[in-house]
Amino acid sequence: MGANNTPRGSKRPYDVIVIGELNVDIILRGDVAPRFGQAEKLVDDLELCAGSSAAIFAASASKMGLRVLYISVVGDDVLGHYMLAALRGAGVDASRVRVDATLKTGATVVLAKADDRAMLTYLGSISAVSARDLPADWASLARHFHVASPFLLSALRPDLPRLMAEAKSAGMTVSLDTNWDPDETWSLEGFFEFLDLFMPNDAELRAISGCDNLEEALATMATRVPLVVVKLGAEGALAVRGQERVHAPAYPVKVISTTGAGDTFDGAFLAAWLRGKSLQRCLELGNAAGALTTTQVGGFNGQPTWEEAERFIALHRPT
Ligand SMILES: Nc1ncnc2c1ncn2[C@@H]1O[C@H](COP(=O)(O)OP(=O)(O)OP(=O)(O)O)[C@@H](O)[C@H]1O
Ligand SMILES: [Mg+2]
Repeated sequence: MGANNTPRGSKRPYDVIVIGELNVDIILRGDVAPRFGQAEKLVDDLELCAGSSAAIFAASASKMGLRVLYISVVGDDVLGHYMLAALRGAGVDASRVRVDATLKTGATVVLAKADDRAMLTYLGSISAVSARDLPADWASLARHFHVASPFLLSALRPDLPRLMAEAKSAGMTVSLDTNWDPDETWSLEGFFEFLDLFMPNDAELRAISGCDNLEEALATMATRVPLVVVKLGAEGALAVRGQERVHAPAYPVKVISTTGAGDTFDGAFLAAWLRGKSLQRCLELGNAAGALTTTQVGGFNGQPTWEEAERFIALHRPT
């Protein structure tokens, strides 16, 4: 990585600390509608992928050159160790992930047909992730705190507003990607007071702001958070910071699976933002990383390094 891409001025051992879930996706493809009555059906394909939006974010941020510490809990089982290996493979520090033999690591079985999918999730160790898993000195370890998927983390969620406040008072910046709320109550009291960077997708932004119109939703949230970045899938992404408003289009790619594109975008955007890049540049790198990961199955796959993202952007620059 070039010297001008090195994160600026921090003596802290990590750039980013993330606390989140660790679970796997088991994807079955073909004629996947189950038939009860003890019938056995054969399917076309099976894939085991590292899942978890916070982990996909962490892997993306790490590949883009940030030093990332991941806090979580897994069972002492094959799936837990698979997730630990996936994090380490992406360069994420997983040494503080607690391995608890009394728990089972969670999994989502994805039944994928050509035009639709159904998911069956066993939460397992996800429900056990709590503020107690953070080391006592956590707020002095990194310069940035990222919060992902609070709606999935039932034991951690009540403590997140307090942790965000602690991070701020320790001099950290804070970002949030809520992802979807399965209950659709969108209860996020205390989540915006200490936030620097909010990264929802279009549907989430509209649900959280209570405004159906995207522009109104953006305007509403921009009065509450210094920087709002909304992900628009094949339309790219839009950033609003005070009076500044920047849109960057998506890159044309052959999409195989969009799972984890948003979390991969977040990691790349943050890597550029922490390096003090312009909003245009942050969006370009986020879009490039998001596009590249859609070309492969699994959120961890296809995620670029900084250099790979730069090369991809240069290829698509109008001549
Ligand atoms: N079909 C696509 N073509 C090109 N780029 C895409 C496509 N879908 C997603 N991306 C890129 O990935 C980014 C994030 O994707 P998306 O808008 O789907 O986020 P999300 O809904 O948060 O995703 P996730 O399902 O991971 O939570 C987009 O802003 C875009 O840059
Ligand atoms: Mg998302």
